[in-house]
Amino acid sequence: MTNIIINGGKTLEGTLPIFGAKNACLPIICATALAEEKVTLSNIPDLSDIELLLGLLEEIGCQTSFCKEKREVEVTPNIAKTELSQKANKMRASILMLAPLLARKGSAKIPYPGGCSIGGRPIDITLDGLRALGVSFEDSDDYLIASAGKLKACEFTLKFPSVGATEALIMAASLAEGTTVFHNVAREPEITDTMDFLNALGADMFFSDDNSITINGAEKLAGCQHRVIPDRIITGTYAVIGALCAGEKGILIENCQPKHLQTELNVLQQAGVKMDIKENSIFIPQQDKNYVGVDFETSVYNGFATDLQAPIMMFLTQCDGEAHVTENIYENRFMHVPHLNNMGAKITPVSHHLAVVKGKTDLVGAKVESTDLRGSAALVIAGLIAEGQTIVEKVQHLDRGYETLDKFLANIGADIKRGTVL
Ligand code: EPU
Repeated sequence: MTNIIINGGKTLEGTLPIFGAKNACLPIICATALAEEKVTLSNIPDLSDIELLLGLLEEIGCQTSFCKEKREVEVTPNIAKTELSQKANKMRASILMLAPLLARKGSAKIPYPGGCSIGGRPIDITLDGLRALGVSFEDSDDYLIASAGKLKACEFTLKFPSVGATEALIMAASLAEGTTVFHNVAREPEITDTMDFLNALGADMFFSDDNSITINGAEKLAGCQHRVIPDRIITGTYAVIGALCAGEKGILIENCQPKHLQTELNVLQQAGVKMDIKENSIFIPQQDKNYVGVDFETSVYNGFATDLQAPIMMFLTQCDGEAHVTENIYENRFMHVPHLNNMGAKITPVSHHLAVVKGKTDLVGAKVESTDLRGSAALVIAGLIAEGQTIVEKVQHLDRGYETLDKFLANIGADIKRGTVL
């Protein structure tokens, strides 16, 4: 079991670089299996989920390589097999392999994606949309078994603008016969990036109105080079760290795209955080920290991202007054709350969807447990400002989405290190 140990109270100064968004890399890596020629992806973060997904591509017959120094992934696509082993259920994103297998080979057998601590995360919208494209599913306890002839264009309305379902369906329809229209789609930047990637392969898809995507099916897709968009969630996490820890020389977040997190940056600015926001960077100078609490509620893009709820709730503990946080996307995404309270925060979860944060509270170091990816980031931030030592246990959750967060923070002055406990 790996822990992160933080001695809090240090001021931080320097540069924090941003690399490609995990949640764009995952669909794009799956979508490489739709191509018939070599694909080169750049700006790839060094995360365990990326390696796992490349392993799944290898299982079906693709050749892959990941040059970490260059942050480049190369895939030479080939589908020799349409079945994935049980390894695939280690990550929910493996469901995104379904569409390429069906679109290119007309069959797929993949393990049901495992449960998830932040909520049930059903896949019914993906399955209904694939049915509309002509896919049929067999009943099986452990595996999702699907078959189809050549996929046929359809018009389909998603009952909720699910990110994963939108990604799966645009992949499938990219090779369907005819023109498909999906209504009530998700519009997250990661969806746009996936569409840009598919179009670079030779697909023909575009947002036809605010909530619809039209796709003219292609005969086949070639190869391409694509640079993945910067991670907006890590950018927002670093902005919170800057707001709470920046020393005299400030913190520069570079190679980001602030336009992708305007809603969340607005919340920080309304609370009183001063930032110099440029097209590809955010500079956070030392702050006077007279912050006031601001209510926010999570929603689909370009509402407030659920993935920044925990880090920004942590920030609210350092603001005066009472602030309401409403989580509308997941039913169990307040798992960080008892751990923050353990460190001195005063957060009352009123329901699974509403929490009230009373600030400002001084935090003290404690032993806390990382329960999910974004909650873990909130605990690390708490450790950076707490008095004394904080030990964040089970940081494997953190490592799924934040590449060596501890090293990047140590580089700018944090007293943070890893420890292994047997
Ligand atoms: N939903 C359904 N039916 C479906 C699909 C989704 O009811 O068929 C519900 C889910 O239960 C959930 C909500 O819709 O309550 C949102 O799910 P969505 O499908 O939009 O999310 P996702 O594709 O499973 C991606 C990110 C998540 C991020 C969400 C929302 C990836 C790999 N994951 O998940 O990222 O929270 O979109 O923006 O892209 C994270 O990075 O920490 C993370 C959880």
